[in-house]
Amino acid sequence: MKNALRYFLAAASLAALGSHADTIVLSADAMVDVESGKLIQNPAIIIEDDKIVSVTTQDALSDFSEATQRIELKGKTLLPGLMDMHTHLTSDPHEHGYKRLATSQNRALLKGVGYAEATLMAGVTTVRNVGAGGYTDVALRDAINDGELVGPRMFVSGPSLGITGGHCDSNLLPPEYKAKGQGVADGPWEAVAKVRENIKYGADVIKVCATGGVLSKGTKVGAQQYSFEEMKALVDEAHRRGLIVAAHAHGAEGINNAIRAGVDSIEHGSFVDKEGIKLAKKNGTYFSMDIYVTEYILGEGEAAGILEESLAKERMTGETQRENFRKAHDAGIKMVMGTDAGVYPHGDNLKQLSRMVTFGMTPIEALQAASINGATLLKKEKELGSIAEGKYADIIAVDGNPLDDISLLEDVSFVMKDGVVYKQ
Ligand code: ARG
Repeated sequence: MKNALRYFLAAASLAALGSHADTIVLSADAMVDVESGKLIQNPAIIIEDDKIVSVTTQDALSDFSEATQRIELKGKTLLPGLMDMHTHLTSDPHEHGYKRLATSQNRALLKGVGYAEATLMAGVTTVRNVGAGGYTDVALRDAINDGELVGPRMFVSGPSLGITGGHCDSNLLPPEYKAKGQGVADGPWEAVAKVRENIKYGADVIKVCATGGVLSKGTKVGAQQYSFEEMKALVDEAHRRGLIVAAHAHGAEGINNAIRAGVDSIEHGSFVDKEGIKLAKKNGTYFSMDIYVTEYILGEGEAAGILEESLAKERMTGETQRENFRKAHDAGIKMVMGTDAGVYPHGDNLKQLSRMVTFGMTPIEALQAASINGATLLKKEKELGSIAEGKYADIIAVDGNPLDDISLLEDVSFVMKDGVVYKQ
């Protein structure tokens, strides 16, 4: 019933937007301006259709007559809709390891419908979805963009590229099953062909597995997988076609190799060394370090089907990753918020913000990582990432001041995306 009502309201406002220019004046007690890093008192935002046309204060706005709708959020602070640069919206967090093998791609896509909605309602208005079989992420993105489903703005990768037997292959079954990850490509030319295939079927970004991982069977977290030649070839192809590349990389060698090959972001980055930090600074490579998920894996992972082998790998990864998050941030590496939601429950994405503060960021830095930095990584900073004139009206609100208490983001009470209110 609740869901049905939400869909109805969203559909009704979409219809209203389609029929005539709608002007909304949105006001609140305060607003976090992620560009200046300041808290603005008594803001008033004027929104026309899906865009912000003016950002001003309630004092400066004498005349509200233009507004066809006024939204006054007393006691609340506005923030830009937040951006999670590492999600798996079609993955069920309660099905890992062999449990996940029983879920078809069609079923995964249907689960993704609810996960997309939960993500948006948590205040995440944009995601970069990095790794989905069967292009389920492409289908979800398109259905959301066409107004058929409620969810965040999605930038998607399709299947993740990886070597045979690597982190992005499917290693759970014995040889007679001939199981193979859809993004498996060995050698530079196969890797290039796979990039082309992903673009053909709708990818906005390329995801590649540069090292072993925690949740894959039989891979070493620290070990490099793709060679430099393979990585360079696939990155060059992606860049020629105007796509960014996200590299799953835990181990230092694999991180450094991926940065040298020109990837745009390092995912996880757990065992980054001094050389990696130097290289990332020099090349402007972003780091997307999922420092909350370790709590879920070690707490609830076993019940969800995570293999003992993976739990053991997590025990030797999580803590170092958190220390290295601090080092990377102190060194001035560009950071985004990437959570790996899908490994853990969708909608809990913003729990990571308080950990980003515990491990070295100020609240405003954590919010910038989760907004303007994500937009810049996606090369969408002219359209997304802050509450500013000309950008899409993706705006959320919390009760109180998030710069005093970042965990307020775990309870987002207002969500607008594209000028449409989804939660109030
Ligand atoms: N998808 C990642 C992997 O399997 C999750 C890593 C989670 N652990 C962590 N400490 N961030 O490698």
